[in-house]
Amino acid sequence: MSHIIPPGSTLGILGSGQLGRMFTRAARRMGYRVHVFSPEHDSPTGQVADAEVVAAYDDLDAVRAFARGVSVVTFEFENVPAPTAAACAECAPVRPAGSILHLTQNRLREKTFLANAGLPVAPFHPAHSLADLTEGLQRLGLPAVLKTAAFGYDGKGQLLITNYNEAEAAIKSLNHSDGLLETFIDFDREASVVAARGLDGSFAHYGVIENLHRHHILDVSLAPALIPPRLAAEAVDMARCVLEKLDVVGVLCVEFFLTRDGQCLINELAPRPHNSGHLTIEACVTSQFEQQVRAVCGLPLGSTEYLRAAAMANLLGDLWSDGEPDWAAACALPDVKLHLYGKREPRPGRKMGHLTALGATVEDAQQKVLTARAG
Ligand SMILES: Nc1ncnc2c1ncn2[C@@H]1O[C@H](COP(=O)(O)OP(=O)(O)O)[C@@H](O)[C@H]1O
Ligand SMILES: [Mg+2]
Repeated sequence: MSHIIPPGSTLGILGSGQLGRMFTRAARRMGYRVHVFSPEHDSPTGQVADAEVVAAYDDLDAVRAFARGVSVVTFEFENVPAPTAAACAECAPVRPAGSILHLTQNRLREKTFLANAGLPVAPFHPAHSLADLTEGLQRLGLPAVLKTAAFGYDGKGQLLITNYNEAEAAIKSLNHSDGLLETFIDFDREASVVAARGLDGSFAHYGVIENLHRHHILDVSLAPALIPPRLAAEAVDMARCVLEKLDVVGVLCVEFFLTRDGQCLINELAPRPHNSGHLTIEACVTSQFEQQVRAVCGLPLGSTEYLRAAAMANLLGDLWSDGEPDWAAACALPDVKLHLYGKREPRPGRKMGHLTALGATVEDAQQKVLTARAG
């Protein structure tokens, strides 16, 4: 196994948010050093990394110098520009490959890939102009959701269209960026499958996690999801198919809509650990972050077995509206774990941290985590 990047080596990560922070903590526990690259200083990842390189993603000399100093480059920020990933690849292996980042950075490319792979997605139509949008609305019907093709997250850049005469205003709201129109899915639930693929093609997954959103932002995740085993098996098979078709080395999350008539539709992909998988830190033998470390270093993947049922609740900046929340109250329940990401400014909608509760059942864990968050 000469391909292994052994503990003691230095790993590089592009992007410096909470996903990088939790990746870094997993890597350092295993004896790796971690260097992080992003435009931000004193970032959530930089605070816990061995070195924080602060430079613009398009400063390709700085990018190459960074990549030369590490054994492998991975990422946590999805919108790393393609030339940045390519510059890294000149100096070190990039895992997952930059081509996967490129694909998932654009909803139209991503959906086209999924549809061509025979995987079920909501009906969609490109919407770059008013003419496209009008055609799309005629084809898909109402209601429909208009999304910016690139740079959307946490529901930003999305618009629900319920009336044909909203088309003109909707296209203006895109501000000349490319758009994608999708059928609005009146789903029963939302769910995700976080999965990993090793350098040798091995596959591991965390089953189906149920996700509850508020204002298009993930609010609570529950695992294992209480859904029929057939549906869970189908979702996992789809995730396996995505990781294999993309030849992923690393972690990738598939987000699903579970429809009222018992179908799984793929909503979107994230080629990295996912907010819904944060509960694997406490609930599973191997967390999604350790799995990312193992995969990108060519190590065998770890067991994804759940030790207990778990629930995760996000802590958004809104919770700070009356000052710092009462963390002692949140910690008062012995099965609840507090994670804060080291972000200074608690803006509304900003992910500042999360709580995970373990329980005998998913309902029990959910109740604990909500009690803890309510303070
Ligand atoms: N076609 C759709 N039908 C119904 N709800 C949708 C649709 N697309 C998105 N949503 C809702 O908005 C949330 C965020 O949308 P998503 O496409 O996942 O974008 P992002 O997470 O990148 O902001 C979804 O989790 C879902 O709750
Ligand atoms: Mg999403």
